[in-house]
Amino acid sequence: MDPRVDLIRSRIRDVADFPKPGILFRDITPLLSDGVAFRTAIDLLAEQARPLAPEVIVGIESRGFLFGAPLATALGIGFVPVRKPGKLPHATTREEYDLEYGTDAVEMHSDALSHGTRVLVVDDVIATGGTARATCKLVKRLGGEIVGAAFLIELTFLDGGAKLAPIPTIALVRY
Ligand code: PRP
Ligand code: MG
Repeated sequence: MDPRVDLIRSRIRDVADFPKPGILFRDITPLLSDGVAFRTAIDLLAEQARPLAPEVIVGIESRGFLFGAPLATALGIGFVPVRKPGKLPHATTREEYDLEYGTDAVEMHSDALSHGTRVLVVDDVIATGGTARATCKLVKRLGGEIVGAAFLIELTFLDGGAKLAPIPTIALVRY
């Protein structure tokens, strides 16, 4: 086991009963406030992402921005934001996805990708996979080629990775 992964794992705090009773929340704020651990997380993501040869990072608002933007600079590639509805100023395309109760949606600028651009989708966590899958649909609609999806954390018991198959998935810490 890579000791760098142990460092990252040690900086993820478990918070019981947040945001609802019975949910164990994986809190990344201790990782973000530790400069060495944060840098290490970006280094590890970059090592695993580099062989996929992405040309752009598509990062998901809001916690996905915290990892997607520094990863883009580490790889020397661009960053495209996926945002919650109504936040992007130019012409957008939208994808809705199901929540436990109701629906949510994500949007991208319609001109954000050139055809065939190699895209790495980045978020902090994959849980049910609904957010990441909706993002992948947007990327494909805009002509992007998804080379992978990278997360700090995968909640494997929710089986979100299966929703993305056969897209290769990177996760530094799995629960
Ligand atoms: C959380 C998390 C992921 C998503 C994962 O975001 O940051 O984006 O949920 O869940 P899923 O795999 O079941 O779709 P949230 O919507 O809570 O918002 P935030 O990033 O703005 O905090
Ligand atoms: Mg999020």
